[in-house]
Order: sequence, then C-alpha cells, then structure tokens
Amino acid sequence: MKHRTAGLGMFPCGRCGHRSNLGPSQQPGGLYLGAVRSAGTDVNRIHDWYCKSERWKRLMVDRVLPDVLEGVDLEGRVLEIGPGPGLVTAALLEYGVSDLTTVEIDPEAAERLRSRYGSRVAVHTGSAAALPLPDGSVDVVVCCTMLHHVPTASEQDGILSECRRVLAPGGVLVGSDSKTSLRLRVFHLWDTHNPVDPASLEARLAGAGFDRVLVTEFDKRFLFRAAAPA
Ligand SMILES: C[S@@+](CC[C@H](N)C(=O)[O-])C[C@H]1O[C@@H](n2cnc3c(N)ncnc32)[C@H](O)[C@@H]1O
Repeated sequence: MKHRTAGLGMFPCGRCGHRSNLGPSQQPGGLYLGAVRSAGTDVNRIHDWYCKSERWKRLMVDRVLPDVLEGVDLEGRVLEIGPGPGLVTAALLEYGVSDLTTVEIDPEAAERLRSRYGSRVAVHTGSAAALPLPDGSVDVVVCCTMLHHVPTASEQDGILSECRRVLAPGGVLVGSDSKTSLRLRVFHLWDTHNPVDPASLEARLAGAGFDRVLVTEFDKRFLFRAAAPA
C-alpha cells in the first residue's frame, strides 16, 4: 500500500524493522550507570555504539532513509537535527546535499562531526528547541530517531515549532522515529526516552503550524513529513 499526500511525495509501505529503542526512561542512575552511560550525552554507551554500527546503517540508511527522503528535493539548504554519530549526515552528503547544517545537543558528538566533515557541514552545538538559524532559512529539515530523546512533550513541540520557523515557505520537515516496545525501553535504560505517539503527531505538527501533514505507521516505526505553508 502506498500513502500519498499532495505535493509531499509518498511513503512506500515496507517492513522497517527496528530492533532497539523505547520506553519512558530517565531512569535514576544505578549500579550500572557509569558502565552504560556515555560521557557528556543523554545516549547510553550501548545506544551510542548501536547508532554507529553497521547494523544501524543497514536499517536506517539503507531501508528507512530512502522512504523518509522519497521525492524530497535535496538541492537547497538542508538542516539535520540530532545527528548523533552521523550516519544520516554521511548519507545526506552521499545523496548530494551540498548545503548541510546540523544541530546536535551533545557537545562531544557535535565535535566529532566537526572534525570529520570540516567545512562540508556547518555543525552547531545546541538544542533544536532553540535553533540558531533565521526564520525561513532552510528548505528541508531532517529529523531521524531523535524526538524520543527529547525529555518532555512540550520540548518536542518546541522543536517542531522551531523546525516550522526556520523552514522557508513550502519547505518540508521529514523524519522517522521508533514506536514503543519493551525491547526499546530496555535499550534506553539510563537514556532519555520519551517516545512520541504517532497517533498524536499529526495534530502536533498541525499545531506547530505545518500543513500537508503525513504520518505513516509501520510495525516498529513511523515516518512523518509536513510542509511549511507556501
Ligand atoms: C539516537 S540519536 C540519532 C542519530 C541519528 N539521527 C540517526 O538516526 O542515526 C539521537 C540524537 O539526538 C540528539 N538530541 C537529543 N535531544 C536533542 C535536542 N534537543 N537538540 C538536538 N539534538 C538532540 C542526541 O544527543 C543524539 O545524538
């Protein structure tokens, strides 16, 4: 089955099997906290390792991202929020994006991206809830696997509003995230974990000022896209 929305392309139905993620975490630190939590980040060490792994690359970059980006014009100014270890960043460059900015809250992850890409990517350290970019200054925002790392729904909504603010008229926000599961909750022990309910996302995107909103659910994940009014 294909899901179509005017002017925003379509998502082919597929099986996007995500094997990790989920569960309201923010669990208190315990005996294993030092062992699993990465220094300077809200992403635990297992998670950090997984997000750099060949396995994640095969799933995220080879299977999910092509659907996220289907029909999206990447020739303009592209912003990626929450790039983490940068597998999606690398893929965006491979897709031919030549004007790429990222905003990453974890200073160490941001510094790694800076060292890796130099002037090819403008890397900002900070929260996507306060994007350091002018109104209407980007054409596409890419938001993959990051919203569930944002601790509160109001901060998530703030990020959606910021994405809307920085998008030029007709620009698009595209992204993906994981649905909740026990496995994902375990995976996020000592991580921030605040899963987005895909059933509520359409209204939340509309509330942030987007139109032509499309949320497509699969077994383990959902994709979303929404346009800034033209
Ligand atoms: C699981 S990683 C996702 C990495 C990459 N986008 C991917 O899909 O492989 C989530 C990233 O979002 C970052 N993050 C969390 N909250 C953020 C915020 N408010 N602003 C920017 N980045 C944030 C985390 O530090 C982490 O690097």
